[in-house]
Amino acid sequence: MQNLLYSLVDKNRSWTQYGNVATYIPELSNSNPDTLGIFICDVDGNEYYAGDYKTKFTIQSISKIASFMCALTDNNINKLYTKISCAPTSDGFNSIINLETKNSHKPLNPMINSGAIATISLVYGLTAEDKFNRIFGFLKEITNNPNLKINYNVYESEKNTGDRNRALAYYMKSTGIIDDDVDEILDVYFKLCSIEVTCKDIAYMSVVLATDGFLPCNNKQILSKSICKTVKAIMTTCGMYDGSGEFAVNVGLPAKSGVGGGIAAVVPKKMGIGVIGPSLDKKGNSIGGVKLLEDLSNELELSIF
Ligand code: DON
Repeated sequence: MQNLLYSLVDKNRSWTQYGNVATYIPELSNSNPDTLGIFICDVDGNEYYAGDYKTKFTIQSISKIASFMCALTDNNINKLYTKISCAPTSDGFNSIINLETKNSHKPLNPMINSGAIATISLVYGLTAEDKFNRIFGFLKEITNNPNLKINYNVYESEKNTGDRNRALAYYMKSTGIIDDDVDEILDVYFKLCSIEVTCKDIAYMSVVLATDGFLPCNNKQILSKSICKTVKAIMTTCGMYDGSGEFAVNVGLPAKSGVGGGIAAVVPKKMGIGVIGPSLDKKGNSIGGVKLLEDLSNELELSIF
């Protein structure tokens, strides 16, 4: 496995030149576009890695999985579905159009920005700060990494340029999808997106879904089997945004991307995978990371389909 990862990272690094690092959050434009790395944790706790797997990056939308896991733990699923649906979308991750025209103003799914903001508002906590601490604490637990930190340069950059997210949140407040103070709930969202991780952290998040709830390195049950089932289904259909269908065909794994260049992917019953490659395709997914996962899936016949 280790040799396979070395050769697949080498083979796919050239793809990084065909994408671009995110610039709409200015601080992300400082990422190195050539970066490509992978970390795998299997269900028996074995670990494999190659390339720039030690590179730190901000978790961005991969935090949406953690928020969704907390919201599913804290709520009756039927209550959750009164605020957010589980339908895929062919629009971009920060699209506003569907909130007005479709689905009774409900965000289509928890993996797009509107859905993630609504998800955070459903997480238990009397104040926005409580909600942040609940999700951040959960992330530290699921990654087995108590040292996770916010990258405050990225956080400030997100906050200064986050008007599209403000528009989504104000619209949802006007339609009763969220009740919270908009600035406070967005502050939680921006902070969560700005948490710094490595491929290992997101591989650990993913392996918990592969095992149906427990982390192999410490055998702690973190989530129920039924929550894992729901999260994997939504990742499969919505986790790569409007690239989810193509990813299902070419890779065939539940996955979640972020504009920091990370991808968390799950091979049910087998392994959790974390990938970094900040050079993104047009849909905001890591271009080298997707190609690397495609080769890995083909080599090891990992597709769930
Ligand atoms: O709110 C945003 O636009 C970013 N903080 C997160 C978006 C994101 O990661 C989409 N990923 N592919």
